[in-house]
Amino acid sequence: MEENLVTCEIADGIATLTLNRPDAMNAFSVAMLDAMAQRLSNLRFDPAIRVLIITGAGKAFSAGADLKERAGMTPEQVKAFIFAIRRLMDDIEQFPRPVIAAVNGAAFGGGLELALASDIRMASQSAVMGLTEARLAIIPGAGGTQRLPRLVGKGIAMEMVFTGRRIDAQEALKIGLVNHVHPPEELLHASRRLAAEICESGPIAVQQAKYAIQRGLETDLNTGLAIESNAYWVCIPTEDRLEGLAAFREKRKPVYKGK
Ligand code: COA
Repeated sequence: MEENLVTCEIADGIATLTLNRPDAMNAFSVAMLDAMAQRLSNLRFDPAIRVLIITGAGKAFSAGADLKERAGMTPEQVKAFIFAIRRLMDDIEQFPRPVIAAVNGAAFGGGLELALASDIRMASQSAVMGLTEARLAIIPGAGGTQRLPRLVGKGIAMEMVFTGRRIDAQEALKIGLVNHVHPPEELLHASRRLAAEICESGPIAVQQAKYAIQRGLETDLNTGLAIESNAYWVCIPTEDRLEGLAAFREKRKPVYKGK
């Protein structure tokens, strides 16, 4: 793995992964896909990590697939790339901790799909977003046709995908594509503040809530409620649950251990 293609910084239980090909607008080459997958796999079962933030170096979040590399690929190689990028997005979505995409600039194609696979999207005022694939005579292939309509609704998603239109951060906020918009220099601080707020909650509870929301949304209400109930049961025997009750009684902040 080329270490620098995706950098990793860890502080106070928050891991920040930075896509680091600024000269290529952080476009996803095969090497960057591998680097990102490796970083995720290293962090996935690290109990010290409570929240993951993904952002980009330079002025882009990610301009999607590396179109220069793509031009030299055989159809079979393109298939293999699409398979790998889809798996990466699934890995992000199923990362057992909350994932915040700090969209610092352009997020197109696979770049926006990465943000869509994250749990919460924060955007810089300078961010521009779009699923631009149809303009290249292809379709979003890393989950965009599925995750965008689930987030912003079918009609708006259809319009965005058919036209490949690029929207700014305010528009993204209006349609619910991003949760918050911040000045560029404040984006990472704001994302880390949000992450720190999440870190105050019980880690097992947060993990189970993510699981229940994600899995429950993909099914009917009764099955979803059964998933929620099972996820709750996981929290009951934890030391953290007793700590929460004790802290409330003693009027102090709880200290959760993820146990
Ligand atoms: N793949 C490979 N290289 C890319 C890229 C991509 N997806 N997007 C940008 N780059 C490269 C450019 O070719 C350029 O390289 P060069 O300096 O060797 O010419 C460099 O990144 C800077 O991009 P540039 O277009 O000059 O910067 P900009 O600020 O004018 O525009 C974007 C930035 C992201 C708006 C623009 O590059 C763009 O629209 N990229 C395509 C995005 C897209 O449609 N992605 C979907 C892929 S499915």
